[in-house]
Amino acid sequence: MNENFYITTPIYYVNDKPHIGHAYTTILADVLSRYQRSLGFDTFFLTGTDEHGQKVEKAAQKRNVEPLAHCDETVVRFQELWKRLGITNDFFIRTTFDFHKEVVRKILQDLYDRGEIYRAEYTGWYCVGCERFFTEKDLVEGKCPDCGREVSAIQESNYFFRMSKYRDWLVDYIKSHPDFILPSFRANETLGFLRQELGDLCISRPKSRLAWGIELPFDSDYVCYVWFDALINYISGVGYLQDDKEFARRWPASCHLIGKDILTTHSVYWPTMLKAIGLPMPKTIFAHGWWLTGNAKMSKSAGNVVDPMAMIDRAGVDAFRYFLLSEMSPGSDANFSEESFISRYNSDLANDLGNLLSRVSKMILRSGGTVPAPEKFEDVDNELLAIAKSAVSAMADNLAQYKPDQGIDAAMGVVRAGNRYLEKCAPWQLAKTGDTARLEAVLYTAAEALRHVAVLLEPVMPEKMAELAKVLGYEDGKICAIAELADKISDLAGRKVSDTAALFPRIIVEEEKAPAAAKPEKKEKKEKKSEKPAEPVGLISIDDFFKTKLKTAKIVAAERVPDAKKLLKLQLEVGSESRQIVSGIAESYAPEDLIGKTIVIVSNLQKATIRGVESSGMLLAAGKGDKIRLVTLDGDIASGVDVG
Ligand code: MSP
Repeated sequence: MNENFYITTPIYYVNDKPHIGHAYTTILADVLSRYQRSLGFDTFFLTGTDEHGQKVEKAAQKRNVEPLAHCDETVVRFQELWKRLGITNDFFIRTTFDFHKEVVRKILQDLYDRGEIYRAEYTGWYCVGCERFFTEKDLVEGKCPDCGREVSAIQESNYFFRMSKYRDWLVDYIKSHPDFILPSFRANETLGFLRQELGDLCISRPKSRLAWGIELPFDSDYVCYVWFDALINYISGVGYLQDDKEFARRWPASCHLIGKDILTTHSVYWPTMLKAIGLPMPKTIFAHGWWLTGNAKMSKSAGNVVDPMAMIDRAGVDAFRYFLLSEMSPGSDANFSEESFISRYNSDLANDLGNLLSRVSKMILRSGGTVPAPEKFEDVDNELLAIAKSAVSAMADNLAQYKPDQGIDAAMGVVRAGNRYLEKCAPWQLAKTGDTARLEAVLYTAAEALRHVAVLLEPVMPEKMAELAKVLGYEDGKICAIAELADKISDLAGRKVSDTAALFPRIIVEEEKAPAAAKPEKKEKKEKKSEKPAEPVGLISIDDFFKTKLKTAKIVAAERVPDAKKLLKLQLEVGSESRQIVSGIAESYAPEDLIGKTIVIVSNLQKATIRGVESSGMLLAAGKGDKIRLVTLDGDIASGVDVG
């Protein structure tokens, strides 16, 4: 990446209500910006809105207001959402700003003067939805090749940009710059598109048909094509033709982040425009996939949009940011469902991360309240510290390749390793046996792993990681810049740890399905009378046995049920599912001794409410009273695995 990091999102159509597709691009740009800032790069992050064109004009007419007044009202939806999502853009550009219109007009005039723009008769097909012209051969069954809607035949005099003459140059440029269009299969898509004849680009609209746009400086009967106007935001927003010093500091952009549906406009129109203007190319155009709901692209017209605000209300801003970035591999599409959101939240954040923090902070508080400064480490400690260190470079490598999901996974790998480490080193036992030296080394090491996680995930979950930092004794919520993680000696030892409420309280799903096998099954047919001799009473068939679904489950949290001497409430991870079971084992086990154990449960038992607490399933155990022992497994095995 460049020393100066300049990243852009598409500018969103001001008419739309932002959905999670828009939120994803903006959060991804925000995470990359925060990350680059933390590395010490001179970073600039631009987003904004695309406000001209037919859709806005029509929407304003329908409401009987001026187009600009309409934009002023609707732009707020984006600005408020970005504020709520903690987006740290350096500037928000609107294409109706005077300075932007001025830059567009200057570019148009210059290109016209140099013969890069010419006037000609045009006949073709126009899609109002996409605001694009198509030739007869572009159409698919007579309809728009992009959105499938009806197109209208159009014949008029228009202005054209000589895009066709840059085709060979563009093909060579893409081939000789492997980072120009990413992922690389998108570069191949563009090269495929360029194998066909490339026409010139119609860059004008007669005012008689569309008045809401930037007037052409050389013909007041026309306005500028909305895409030609919109793409220029990437340079007008950083000082082009206004502030040479600022522009030289920012351009060329490090990355234009876009969705795959606007690849051609960015990988063909924009580079040829820049070439004609005489400017260098952006380093990378990265096209991510779509968010789908029910396997269809999320969009206003499909009526399947997910409102980001609803998700934020459910689990908080940071959990929403975390989910979007960890769930999508940006090269591919991703499916959004509330279940997957809750399941990832509960397993990654509530269980793994929340649990590690709560175990470490509670143990430190019980042993004096400050992070110890151990003198001696064992191999097992150094292994965890090495995993934490390697996550720093894994995050860097993955973000440089636009793979935030894998960077996050590396950080969460530290969390998972931290939990395994605690199970192995059992600091609660060390506290009981009074092995202070070892206890100190273990608590310090686990806290140091958490310190790395907090710094690495800060760009993704800024507020929650600041809270985590405070628990570890960094009173202002700031630990250090990512760049310092690798270079500086840790300043963790001696910090005063504070108590914390759960960082990520579990989301309890109310409507868990009743277990199927719990309902008595009706026999379809009467069984044939057996000719064989009767079997001993009480024996069951193998089929009967398998009606009981036994599964492995990992205990991630445990607490006493108030006013019930014998009962513990356990939170379990069963594969990707989370569940709660109330069990009468409180006289045999202290809650903290159970965390991390993998046990066996009956997973298809009907739900019950015990002392007002919901219980979904049963643990397998032997014994009575204070002599109960849980059925555990002989060796490491994942949770959610069938037993039988
Ligand atoms: N105004 C143009 C962009 C001009 S940039 C010079 C535009 N606006 S848009 O509001 O329709 O789309 C903006 C971005 O949102 C695009 O990158 C598009 O891919 C993205 N998304 C819209 N729906 C999406 C999903 N369902 N999933 C992911 N991103 C999607 O196009």
